[in-house]
Amino acid sequence: MTASTVPNPAGPTAVVILAAGQGTRMKSTLPKVLHAVGGRSLLGHAMVAGRELAPAHLAVVVRHGRDQVAAEVTRLDAAALVVDQDEVPGTGRAAQVGLEALDAAAGQGGTAGGISGAVVVTASDVPLLDGATLGQLVAAHREDGNAVTILTTVVADATGYGRIVREDGTGDVLAIVEHKDATDAQREIREINTSIFVFDADVLRRGLRSVTQDNAQGEMYLTDVVAFARAEGRTVRAVITDDPMTVEGTNDRLALSVLGAELNRRILERWMLDGVTIVDPRTTWIDVDVDLAPDVTILPGTQLHGATKVEAGATIGPDTTLTDVEVGEGATVTRTHGSLAIIEAGATVGPFSFLRPGTVLGAKGKIGAFVEVKNSQIGAGSKVPHLSYVGDATIGEGTNLGAATIVANYDGVAKHRSVIGSQVRTGSDTVLVAPVTIGDGAYTAAGSVITQDVPAGALGVGRAQQHNSAGWVERKRPGTPAAQASAAASAGAAAAPTSQNAPTSDADPASEGTSH
Ligand code: UD1
Ligand code: CA
Repeated sequence: MTASTVPNPAGPTAVVILAAGQGTRMKSTLPKVLHAVGGRSLLGHAMVAGRELAPAHLAVVVRHGRDQVAAEVTRLDAAALVVDQDEVPGTGRAAQVGLEALDAAAGQGGTAGGISGAVVVTASDVPLLDGATLGQLVAAHREDGNAVTILTTVVADATGYGRIVREDGTGDVLAIVEHKDATDAQREIREINTSIFVFDADVLRRGLRSVTQDNAQGEMYLTDVVAFARAEGRTVRAVITDDPMTVEGTNDRLALSVLGAELNRRILERWMLDGVTIVDPRTTWIDVDVDLAPDVTILPGTQLHGATKVEAGATIGPDTTLTDVEVGEGATVTRTHGSLAIIEAGATVGPFSFLRPGTVLGAKGKIGAFVEVKNSQIGAGSKVPHLSYVGDATIGEGTNLGAATIVANYDGVAKHRSVIGSQVRTGSDTVLVAPVTIGDGAYTAAGSVITQDVPAGALGVGRAQQHNSAGWVERKRPGTPAAQASAAASAGAAAAPTSQNAPTSDADPASEGTSH
C-alpha cells in the first residue's frame, strides 16, 4: 500500500470497511472480496481508497471466509484493524462491531468516550470507488455539518437496493428504505443507497444501539441510522455521483468482468494521456500497480500485471504477458511470457520466449526465439538467440550461446548452478551439465556434452569422433534413390575429379556455432 498512513487533519477519524457478507452470487469457494480486478482484490481496492483519506484508523469487518480475508487485510496494510462480526446479521451489526473495536483501540490510547468526528463506512465490493470520491463526500459532510452523508446514484432498475426517501422542499434525506421493506410508491424511487457513507461517530454509535432486526430480512440495517438521526433533528444529506460506475457493486462474475473492463479502460486512458502509445486498447490489459514511462509502446494482445515497470522507449508486444517484470529503456519484448524478471536497457526478447523468475538480461543482451530462462543472470551484450534452455546459470558479458545450447541444471534430484564467463562461444547443440564452469573466451564444439569445466580460452569438445563408412549406401541400400545418387556421384567424380572436403582429425569443430 503506497498511500500515507500519517493521519490527515482534513480526513475522517476512521474508515470502516464492511467485508463480512457472504457474496453467494459469486458461486465461489473464494470469498467475494478476494476476487480481483486490475490485479488487486476487491477488498484491496476498498482499502486503497480508504487509505487515500489518511484516516487515523482503518478497520475491516470480516466474517465469511474470515481467515483468508483477514490475511489479505494484514498483507495489504499491517496497521489496519481486523474486526470479527458475530452471528447477528446485517450491515448495521457490521458497522457496530467495527465502531466498538475502534472505540476500544482509541480507549487504550486515552480517548475514554470512544472516537469522535467523521467515520466513513463503505462496502468492500465497489472496486472503482476512489479516494477522491470519498474525499468529496467527507468534504460535503463537513461543510453541511451533517450527521450522515450518503453517496447515492440514480439507476434505471433499482430492484434490490435501498431507496433514498427525500423530504419535499429541502431535498434532505428522511430515510433509506430497503427494497423488501418498501411500499409500492417507494419502489418507484430510482435513487439508491450505494452503501458508502460518512457518519458522525456519536450519531452512528447511538443510532446503532437503537437499530433492531425487526424488518423483512431480520437483519440489523445500517441504513436505519438515517431515520434515527432525523428523529434527533439532525441533517442527513445525499450526494449523487455523476459517475455511476464508481459506486457499482460486484454481486456476481458478470459484474466482476464489466467492472474489470471499465477499470482497465480507465487505466489505459490515463497511460495514453501520460504519453504511452497503446495501439489496441481492446486487447491490452494493465494492472493498477503497473508503472510505465512516456514513449513506451504497447502492441496488441499485451497484458502487464503486478508490479511490472517499463522504462521510456521500450516496446512491449504483440501478444506478451509480463508479471512483475522490469523492462529497461528502449528494450523490446515480443511475444513473450515472463514473470519476476529484469530486462535491462536496449535488450531484446522474443519472439516466443519464456522468462521465469530470477531471469536478468543485461543491457543490449538478447533472449531469442523458443528460449526459456530461469533464475539466471545473462550479462550485458550476451545472447541466447535460438532454441535454448538456460537454468540456474550466471553468464558474463558478450557471450553467445549457439542454437539449442542447453544448460542442464537438474540431475533428477537437485538443481545445480553453472557459470559461463564473458566472450564465450558455445557451439550449436551444446549441453552444459551443471555444475560446470566455462572460462572467459572459451569455446565449445557443436554437439558437445560438457560435463567438465572448460578453462578460459580452451575449446571444449565432448562428442564422439566422426567416422565415415565409405560406400555404405550402395552396399546396404542397393536400388534406392540414395544409392543411385551415390553411384552417379562416383561416376561424375571419376570423370572430372573435384576437391572434396573429407573430415579430418584437425577440422575445426568450433566453426559450428550460430549467432545473431
Ligand atoms: C445494502 C444496503 C442497501 C444498498 C446496498 C448497495 C443495508 C441494510 N442495505 O444492501 O441500502 O442499496 O447495500 O449494494 O445496509 N456486510 C457485512 N455484514 C453483513 C452484511 C453485509 O459486512 O452482515 C457487508 C458486505 O460484505 C458488503 C456490504 O456490507 O460489503 C453490503 O452488503 P450487501 O449484502 O451487499 O448489501 P445489502 O444488505 O443487500
Ligand atoms: Ca444482504
